[in-house]
Amino acid sequence: MEGTGILFTVLLAILLLLNYLKQQWSRRHFPPGPLSLPLIGGVWRINFGIGCTVETPMKLAEQYGDIFTVWGGNIPVVVLSGFEAVKEGLIDHLEDFSDRPQTGFTTLIARGKGVALSNGHTWKQQRRFGVVTLRKLGVGKRSLEGQIEEESQQLVEVFTREKGQPFDPALPLTNSVSNLICALSFGHRFPLEDETFKKLIDALRFTLKFGGSIFLGLYELFPWLMKHLPGPHKKASHVTEMLLSLAKKETQKHKEQKSFQDPRDLIDFYLLEIEKRKNDPTSTYDEENLAQIIHDFFVAGTETSATSLKWAILLLANYPDIQDKAYKEIEDVLCSSSFSYQDLKKLPYTNAVLHEILRLKYPLLFGLPRQTSKDVKMRGFLIPKGTSIVPNVRSALLDPKYWESPKEFNPKHFLDQDGHFVANEAFLAFGAGARVCFGEHLARMEIFIFFVNLLRAFRFQLPPGVKELNEEPAVALSTPPHPYKVCAVPRSSS
Ligand code: HEM
Repeated sequence: MEGTGILFTVLLAILLLLNYLKQQWSRRHFPPGPLSLPLIGGVWRINFGIGCTVETPMKLAEQYGDIFTVWGGNIPVVVLSGFEAVKEGLIDHLEDFSDRPQTGFTTLIARGKGVALSNGHTWKQQRRFGVVTLRKLGVGKRSLEGQIEEESQQLVEVFTREKGQPFDPALPLTNSVSNLICALSFGHRFPLEDETFKKLIDALRFTLKFGGSIFLGLYELFPWLMKHLPGPHKKASHVTEMLLSLAKKETQKHKEQKSFQDPRDLIDFYLLEIEKRKNDPTSTYDEENLAQIIHDFFVAGTETSATSLKWAILLLANYPDIQDKAYKEIEDVLCSSSFSYQDLKKLPYTNAVLHEILRLKYPLLFGLPRQTSKDVKMRGFLIPKGTSIVPNVRSALLDPKYWESPKEFNPKHFLDQDGHFVANEAFLAFGAGARVCFGEHLARMEIFIFFVNLLRAFRFQLPPGVKELNEEPAVALSTPPHPYKVCAVPRSSS
């Protein structure tokens, strides 16, 4: 009996070993990476998502090189690290890496529709529409600047009510940035106390928190199991439905008012496009894709900009010299008069500060994942079609080969010896290549106009007794600062 037990154990061990060797053989063309354990793969090296910091993938790159593989169970995820590898992937392999992975989570929140998570013909059409419509809605023009100006003045009023006392600026910033996307998409902003608006903000916050949680990892690894279990993934689906149904309600109102005959917002332009293409069998313009595009604008375009502004205020308070220098430049050049986005060119120091905020405090964990659209050979490895790729944009923004003091807040990274603004090719905060962020111009306008108006109205100071605000980011799908309080002291001249 004992002998049979031993034999059985030995046989099992041999079978497991053979299975392991077979697996290693089939994975031999992939870049190296952490040891892959049964079921969980290499996820143990990123602490199962718990305690994972923004540094974790960069530490893995130090060990395995600029291109490495983390196995999530049987699913390979190839990570590109450092400016050169990220650029090689996104620019040199422009077409090959232009898809987004269709995983359990992306299917749950997008179902292959919209722009940020779709692929192929749908993506191409929806993206073209998004780019053209943002231009029509005034991105790069004075009309949109007026809306951003109005929203930033509302924010100044909210901050003024705090009377220079310590307060948390996070919610007012998120509200303002979200209301701007409401204005672009629906043609109106919401009063802050509106119940629908509050639900919208909660939904966005939840989606981003879930996107960085262990439950997302579990959902991606075991979707067949998780679908039947309770947990926050159920709420993620509910929250997506809520966002989509808000977009559909607003669309219905537009249809009833027939406002698309004189289009003024994203819904109007989209309804017009549906009408124009109604006899085109290749058209993907329909109300489901419209709702998803609005969802994408909210998810991709609110927390990113709001997080950057939260970091901006925190860093201004932590670095009063930099704050004072930017304020002085703004006052000297703009002389308290009205200004436009074009004026940024006359403000090299302020421009450098804004770039440095986005570089050092990049608002996303890595960027958005990509997927190979065919078999790709890169740096001697063979990456099969359909493999998920994570271009770690953060690692390019902190790459010591391209930045003098990568971990420091140092606007000089974007200035030459004479104080002129200089661009740096490793500044990839908005991604690169075929799927580069198409909200980039909008985000830059928003951040600049909010920044100038806030700085003109207030000096941001640490609360009494506080020596420094925490500069470690919280880790979710976005990487905002941990909650903090700051004093917005009205400037004596205003
Ligand atoms: C500071 C603000 C922002 C940052 C740092 C940022 C960054 C990014 C990054 C890194 C990507 C992925 C690009 C890639 O795969 O190479 C992206 C995609 C995207 N962003 Fe932004 N973004 C910002 C603001 C916005 C805004 C305001 C919008 C509003 C329209 C927006 C809409 C999108 C969309 C729709 C995509 C998906 C594009 C596609 O898949 O074709 N983003 N963004």
